[in-house]
Amino acid sequence: MTTAALEVDGLRKAYAGRAVVDGLSLTLRPGTVLALLGPNGAGKTTTVEICEGFRTADAGTVRVLGLPPAESSLRARVGVMPQAGGAYPGLRCAEMLRLVASFSASPLDPDDLLERLGLSEVARTSYRRLSGGQQQRLSLALAVVGRPELVFLDEPTAGLDPAARRATWELVEALRRDGVSVLLTTHLMDEAERLADDVVIVDAGRVVATGTVAELTRTGAVGQLRFRATPGLDLEQLLTALPVGCTAKESPSGDYLVEGVVDPQLLAAVTAWSAGQGALATDLRVETRTLEDVFLDLTGRELRA
Ligand SMILES: Nc1ncnc2c1ncn2[C@@H]1O[C@H](COP(=O)(O)OP(=O)(O)O)[C@@H](O)[C@H]1O
Ligand SMILES: [Mg+2]
Repeated sequence: MTTAALEVDGLRKAYAGRAVVDGLSLTLRPGTVLALLGPNGAGKTTTVEICEGFRTADAGTVRVLGLPPAESSLRARVGVMPQAGGAYPGLRCAEMLRLVASFSASPLDPDDLLERLGLSEVARTSYRRLSGGQQQRLSLALAVVGRPELVFLDEPTAGLDPAARRATWELVEALRRDGVSVLLTTHLMDEAERLADDVVIVDAGRVVATGTVAELTRTGAVGQLRFRATPGLDLEQLLTALPVGCTAKESPSGDYLVEGVVDPQLLAAVTAWSAGQGALATDLRVETRTLEDVFLDLTGRELRA
């Protein structure tokens, strides 16, 4: 059995008697991307900072590459991108990246990294003069330039414009291709859907669901099939052709909705039925659940709230 890149078991942390991390467990498989997905205040940063060795837990165990988080030998093997950023404000962008690269035995090429993150134009600009989004991307570059085995990225794309977000996503995908293990936190479900092998959904310090994106969006899913056809078709006849448990309605006129387990048989039944009535079903759409729907079902709240 290979050692997990990160193993968290029964983690607890309270502030002023209030549990902000409340028995949280997760496993990051080596060479994969795990997204800790949850709304603001869910306890994501607290969890990550305990794993990074910056805060201590009240209870539970954490193993980072098989070692306790405070183990000094981890510094060279783990990359950290803090939520609040963190750098030497007076240094120029490229200088800082070269400095951090020099601490590593086999760093990535700093200039290439600046290019990939859209920072080449500001390579000679001091950190304090960079925009917030540029500081954030430099912080990401600093986290990965030393070619770590494991990277912690806390809300890496929060507040970035679409181009910078895409560049960040591409870098995370490249890390994954290189076999780096990545734990990222996000409150953006599209980010988790795009990047993560595994998603751990957290709310109020607890894990509310764990699985691959496909598993989470499939669980208990009642699918919806929508289509358009001539108004007033005979739905009673459709229902007799559909599996037991399906429902069908027309609303508004000419817009049809079938709910049930959407599989090829269901699609075939619908098209055969409409053809039997001399009508052509058009604009067939299968609506699938998103992680946003999963979170709403589990907590009754919206992720972005
Ligand atoms: N050092 C601290 N002292 C007191 N409360 C804290 C501290 N750090 C975090 N919290 C509280 O813990 C909760 C979880 O915060 P955090 O881990 O930052 O969540 P997230 O990163 O998911 O937004 C929040 O209610 C926050 O106010
Ligand atoms: Mg946070």
